[in-house]
Amino acid sequence: MAQLDGLSKFGIVALVVLAIWLVKFLFDVIYTYALGPAVNKVDFKSKGKWALVTGCTDGIGKQYARQLAARGCDIVLVSRSMDKLRATAEEIEKEFKVSTKIIQADFCEGEEIYATIAKEITDLEIGTLVNNVGISYSYPEYFLDVPDWEKVMSNLIKANVASVTRMTGLALPGMVKRGKGVIINIGSASSIIPSPLLTVYAASKAYVDKFTEGLDMEYRKKGIICQCVMPGFVCTTMSGIRRSTFFAPTAEAFVKSAISLVGTVSRTTGYLPHAIFTNTISFIYDVSGSFGVWLVTRSMENTRNRSLKKRGKLDA
Ligand SMILES: NC(=O)c1ccc[n+]([C@@H]2O[C@H](COP(=O)([O-])OP(=O)(O)OC[C@H]3O[C@@H](n4cnc5c(N)ncnc54)[C@H](OP(=O)(O)O)[C@@H]3O)[C@@H](O)[C@H]2O)c1
Repeated sequence: MAQLDGLSKFGIVALVVLAIWLVKFLFDVIYTYALGPAVNKVDFKSKGKWALVTGCTDGIGKQYARQLAARGCDIVLVSRSMDKLRATAEEIEKEFKVSTKIIQADFCEGEEIYATIAKEITDLEIGTLVNNVGISYSYPEYFLDVPDWEKVMSNLIKANVASVTRMTGLALPGMVKRGKGVIINIGSASSIIPSPLLTVYAASKAYVDKFTEGLDMEYRKKGIICQCVMPGFVCTTMSGIRRSTFFAPTAEAFVKSAISLVGTVSRTTGYLPHAIFTNTISFIYDVSGSFGVWLVTRSMENTRNRSLKKRGKLDA
């Protein structure tokens, strides 16, 4: 009986903790996705005539370019493939009646691309910068077994870490001078949940998260809004997910949600189902670290094995 009492007490405490966690989560959800966006609407055009988006001809970046154009910004498109840049520029100009400027740059190349970009934007008032470009592994893999190791590791750091730092270095001085601006950095949920077999990708996105946090602390008082967006799965070429689901939206739906949160939260998954997903994984991990790691590792290994089978590198 005494033992049952002890167990009952433990159960009650556990229920109270869970209830507090749920209430806090619900309050955060209501503020982030309903109240905040209603009262903190950001007028992007008033921050500066031009918005610059990196990696903008597809997926999430293209949607930021389109949705900023829909808000009246002229768009600087910086990406790798000239034909896709031209097609995106034409599409945006026609549909939203704004001006565009295209800059061809491969963020996996060397330092010299930043001098070119700097020259191209020198006379433009960049009010919004979206550091979206990013690359990942071609499939989840153990660190030492990533194919083409040296090149992939170097490219990951150039495209995911150096690009965010250097592009911010180019756009921020003008924003500070004008006392206004928005910097949106695209990280990844992989940096906030356990991400074995994507170690360097997740670590590079942890940099984006920490970089944005510090930038926000330093420049908020100078009128600059900094936001790190850490998506879960989105239907794009990078994720390889073709059909949208509750947890994997289209890039359009994802950006529609994430862009509405600018000015409300400086660190966000950008999309409510992704918040539910990352909070659930984090909760499991907090309750039992080893179970959480086992669960995620098993899922990543399954994806790895399926991918290797497709490539004919693993026996069926
Ligand atoms: N999709 C997801 O599930 C997901 C989840 C979490 C975070 N993210 C992050 O979201 C961002 C966008 O990803 P996405 O899924 O939208 O990618 P995506 O659909 O594959 O599009 C990538 C865009 O970036 C450009 N790009 C790729 N490599 C480049 C390079 N080296 N130099 C210049 N431009 C380059 C591509 O141009 P080309 O077509 O010419 O190659 C394309 O316009 C990334 O930072 C990614 O890490 C994505």
